[in-house]
Amino acid sequence: MTNPWLEIPLADYESHMSLPAIAQAEMLAVQFSDALRRFSPESVAVIGCAGGNGFDGIPPETKRVVGVDINPDYIASASFRYHGRIPGLEFHVADIGSGPLPFCPVDLIYAALVFEYVPLPAALGNLSRVCRPDGRLVTVLQHPSPHVHAVSPSPYTSVQALVPLMRLISPGELAGCAAASGFDLESEQALVLKSGKEFTVQVYRHAVG
Ligand SMILES: C[S@@+](CC[C@H](N)C(=O)[O-])C[C@H]1O[C@@H](n2cnc3c(N)ncnc32)[C@H](O)[C@@H]1O
Repeated sequence: MTNPWLEIPLADYESHMSLPAIAQAEMLAVQFSDALRRFSPESVAVIGCAGGNGFDGIPPETKRVVGVDINPDYIASASFRYHGRIPGLEFHVADIGSGPLPFCPVDLIYAALVFEYVPLPAALGNLSRVCRPDGRLVTVLQHPSPHVHAVSPSPYTSVQALVPLMRLISPGELAGCAAASGFDLESEQALVLKSGKEFTVQVYRHAVG
């Protein structure tokens, strides 16, 4: 089966996430910016970077920025938007759930709303190999809820193709798998959007070299 992420036009995805009733694009960009401010990494990788949401907020002190996504069209758009505007920028089309990732280790990995679509142990093992010792992994997870749709209804119906692939996981499940790959949970914070959707932001420290 083709991964549905390969079939969703970036314009549909970005329009869906930016709808005022959904408002997830802004939340994800704010979390990324907060992580950059908190850890001041020299190098950062954004896993599932789509079209580069939040890249506008990367400070000039960040020397190396790696964007990774499974969808080559998303990477092409992100590259078109940001090459020449952010120093030390590299993009990779890669599936974090299969095989080693093609870039050198970084100080901070930001992985927001991507673990819902991948085999956790394989993905975390691959991320462990590209995170420096004492580096951080910052994650955003969406909570399961009986009251809100996992994928919000919107005029951008192509996004509904994600429903069969999406598996909402608990912060505890992620923490257990992350620990097995050398990521120790350092802090976590709950977020609730006006839509009623709930999220958890977790920060992990990479304890192994
Ligand atoms: C919900 S979006 C993430 C949010 C995005 N960071 C933002 O701020 O809009 C999930 C992203 O992960 C990518 N993705 C899904 N599965 C992936 C995989 N196995 N490997 C790499 N990227 C993947 C999708 O193509 C999509 O761009």
